[in-house]
Amino acid sequence: MKLLLPLFCLLSPAFGPVSAQDKRLVDVVPVAEGADALLPCALGSGLSVDQFDWRKDSGGEEKEEVFFYDKGSYYGHGRSEQYQSQQFRGRVEFFKERLESGNASITIQNTRLEDNGTYTCVLFKPQRHEVNVRLNVVGDLIF
Ligand SMILES: *[C@@H]1O[C@H](CO)[C@@H](O)[C@H](O)[C@H]1NC(C)=O
Ligand SMILES: *[C@@H]1O[C@H](CO)[C@@H](O)[C@H](O)[C@H]1NC(C)=O
Repeated sequence: MKLLLPLFCLLSPAFGPVSAQDKRLVDVVPVAEGADALLPCALGSGLSVDQFDWRKDSGGEEKEEVFFYDKGSYYGHGRSEQYQSQQFRGRVEFFKERLESGNASITIQNTRLEDNGTYTCVLFKPQRHEVNVRLNVVGDLIF
């Protein structure tokens, strides 16, 4: 078990994610290893989302499946976990009550150094929309 340092320095507004309105912008989310990370993905339109997918770039053309939601079903809840990368099983949460306002953000719990990297959120409806987020997992915060 790793000790966690307070996160106030990482969570101050100056380090917060920038607006996800513009999909060409890459949000950078810093998080201390072991803490939970919020990966933002929201439509500016406020239209409801009923299908979305999160993947992680793992170099080259390879993508790891992080999370998939389809009209109420998701991994471990009406959908087999076999397609979800083992790395993320049981560690991803979404915000059910936010979907109707077009918000498909997720949290990755208990972040690991191997989670560091670039993620893509794809919203399929009402129109396809992609958001890239860079998760920067910072280890060695223990002095
Ligand atoms: C999306 O939902 C998350 C989690 O509730 C929240 O932190 C974030 O501010 C929301 N984004 C927008 C654009 O409303
Ligand atoms: C995390 O990924 C970023 C690029 O997304 C890279 O610059 C950084 O060196 C990586 N950090 C670690 C600890 O691997």
